Amino acid sequence: MPKISEHKIEQIKNYNDIVDVISSYIQLKKKGQNYWARCPFHDEKTASFSVSAKKQIYHCFGCGVGGNVINFVMDYEKLTFIESVKELAERANIELEEFSVSEQEISDTTRFYTINEFAVDLYHKALFSSKGKKPLEYLIKRGLSKQTIEKFKIGYAPDEWNYFNEQYDNKKYDLNVVKNSGLLSESKGKVYDRFRDRIMFPIYNLKDKPIAFGGRTLKNDKNIGKYINTPETKVYHKSSVLYGLNITKDIIRKAKEVLIVEGYMDFLQLFQNGFTNCVACSGTAFTNQHGKIILRYAETAVLIYDGDDAGQKATLRAGYVLTSQKVNCKILVLNKKDDPDSFLQNYGAQKFQEKIDNSISFVPFLKKYYKFDKLNATRKASVITDILDEIRQFPDQIYREMIIKDIADEFGLEYESLLKQLREKSYKTVSNNPKIHIREKKFKNQSEAAQYQLIQLFLINNNIVRKAGLKYVTPEIFSHKFLAEVVGRVLEVVAKNEDILPEQIPDKINDEKIRRFVVRLIMDLDSIIEPEKTFVACLKQIEKQMIQDQYDELSVQIENIKNDDKAHLKLIKEQIKLIKEKKELDSYYTLDILNV
Ligand code: UTP
Ligand code: MN
Repeated sequence: MPKISEHKIEQIKNYNDIVDVISSYIQLKKKGQNYWARCPFHDEKTASFSVSAKKQIYHCFGCGVGGNVINFVMDYEKLTFIESVKELAERANIELEEFSVSEQEISDTTRFYTINEFAVDLYHKALFSSKGKKPLEYLIKRGLSKQTIEKFKIGYAPDEWNYFNEQYDNKKYDLNVVKNSGLLSESKGKVYDRFRDRIMFPIYNLKDKPIAFGGRTLKNDKNIGKYINTPETKVYHKSSVLYGLNITKDIIRKAKEVLIVEGYMDFLQLFQNGFTNCVACSGTAFTNQHGKIILRYAETAVLIYDGDDAGQKATLRAGYVLTSQKVNCKILVLNKKDDPDSFLQNYGAQKFQEKIDNSISFVPFLKKYYKFDKLNATRKASVITDILDEIRQFPDQIYREMIIKDIADEFGLEYESLLKQLREKSYKTVSNNPKIHIREKKFKNQSEAAQYQLIQLFLINNNIVRKAGLKYVTPEIFSHKFLAEVVGRVLEVVAKNEDILPEQIPDKINDEKIRRFVVRLIMDLDSIIEPEKTFVACLKQIEKQMIQDQYDELSVQIENIKNDDKAHLKLIKEQIKLIKEKKELDSYYTLDILNV
């Protein structure tokens, strides 16, 4: 069989616009010529991943990944070249002739999918066999219809050590791949089924491929885990999977609203009752990644967790995550004894709809959660501190302040004083004697390190430091040539807009080398604690070095004029003056210089 031709590959690239393709995985924002996002290949707070529609390439200024549309699919989906080409061909409806694929051209990712597909089928059939009588009865008794069971391919792993182990084709599937896929366990060199006597809920990714299972026991035994799950594998990362989304995503997109529950059973009960715009987070903590996925489909999320204390605590966490990502987050609070599943079975769909219609926004929920009105003044203050500590982490400043406004209104507090408290504690104070702290060691001396750090300080959105910086800092005081250029550009940008957010600064810089450097500095901002003190320390360090340089210069001159007593004395006097100046630096460079 032939390989895919170069010509065909070019055609596939031409028919798959890189911005379209990448947008189907992550949210891109257009800024200037390019599209930007936080890099999906490494953890970052600012967007340094860029896509160029014109050049049809992507590049991350943070971690350096980059390439064309095929490379992106390879990297993102962990597929081989041929598999990625095939996927892009399907996406663009380009027909491919039969072509050969060698063993090496099949990725582990694909191998995991096929073995999981096999397991889904095997367990699903077992549920409807004589072995599955009891679990099937159980599911029906729990209120699931055959249709729901079919749709979500629910299965049963029989009460045997080697049910799966003996049935998969070991010529087709490599033992290591099967072991790594999490379907088998191993102890003392013996391999056996991980899932035994459990109802199996297959978990799919958004490409409709099964990647994991949740297995529920039928026993009422507190000593065994109610659920066991596939461990994390190459294809299953529980922090970025939402149960059911492969089926409900289009419905959610249409509704612009998603109902989020915790459990598989909750999800299935909702779905069956016509609340089909739902997902389950499968009892794991709701992560930022979950939030990002939700944002691709919905503007509003309704959290419907268990009514008990644990459920409400989890609601609080998920609420913060969603709100910080600007999802309009609503909360449906059930009474202590109910979960969404039991509520639906006890009170029916109509009552549930009423509950959804009456769900409350996150800020009123906060007030209710803390029973704010019933607290004494000390407790109130400490609750507010806790809330502000959370909101301070929200990435968008304007949004932070909008939420603070809501809180002021809801809690009956002064907006201005909340805002002041929000800004005051912006940076944690840990040491009284801040050191100039940098990761890179390529600087000639401490002064250059201070110059590097000064630029970072202007990037942080701290008005006190920015104001003082505009007064005291000019490129001329920088001995490092490139850093002097960078600080010049950054100061220009900050002078025009003192409130500009760090991540907006690179876009205002045209010079590519400087821009990239600034992007890198921004990615490193977390290392600065106590910006005000650090600012003063940096200025002092730079001036100290200038004085030292002059001193050294004088020493060289003194060496060269040994025979001229008068000139010699004059130089010595100048040196003494410099020593005095250096001593005075400490009393001059205090936090007082910030009062500008
Ligand atoms: P629940 O205990 O609410 O489970 O846990 P459930 O789905 O409602 O199941 P039933 O109604 O008791 O049969 C919520 C979710 O937390 C995860 C599962 O994903 C479950 O669906 N979980 C729970 C675990 O992973 N392990 C456990 O031991 C318990
Ligand atoms: Mn339940």
